[in-house]
Amino acid sequence: MIDQYGLDYKMLGISGAERLAPDRLTIFTWPDPHLSEKTIDVTVFDGYLKNTIANMVYTMLQNNGLGLAGPQVGFMQNVVIINKEFNGDYFPMVLINPKIEEISFKESFPMREGCLSVPGYFEDRERPSGVIVSYYNTKGKETIEEFRNQNAFVIQHEIDHLHGKVFVDHLSKLKLKRIIKKTLKKKH
Ligand code: NI
Repeated sequence: MIDQYGLDYKMLGISGAERLAPDRLTIFTWPDPHLSEKTIDVTVFDGYLKNTIANMVYTMLQNNGLGLAGPQVGFMQNVVIINKEFNGDYFPMVLINPKIEEISFKESFPMREGCLSVPGYFEDRERPSGVIVSYYNTKGKETIEEFRNQNAFVIQHEIDHLHGKVFVDHLSKLKLKRIIKKTLKKKH
């Protein structure tokens, strides 16, 4: 059941009593210092966490993103949201304390990489096409799952965020600042 905000609370593991209208969070843009900080593991699976996750999912959907990681909204814990592709449809999914256990397919999956924190900039990039990831759900239950192709690519991008890495780290700050400034100006 998807509500008017596009959130499937059952899938997110959030019960009816914990529902609140989600907030659209501010996404920090590169080079905000939050983006180069490492995050810490989630240890408390409470209503605050679930509410933050609902806000993150809503924010990702509102911005047409494929993923969003904690540091992008200043939540410095190991939480990533992905818009998981399945048979051409997309479903928001949350991964808490995600860890890549194994690269299951080394063959490259090519994608035009972008990031909500680097608006207006894209780069052709290849990443391994299969990863086995362990993560916790919102109830604190650990699972292990394999992700392939686009989902594997996006998860690798999001987990990089938790390590303080952004895909544009190798580019000059000056060049990127110019691109982002131009894009943000166009939006307003
Ligand atoms: Ni990103």
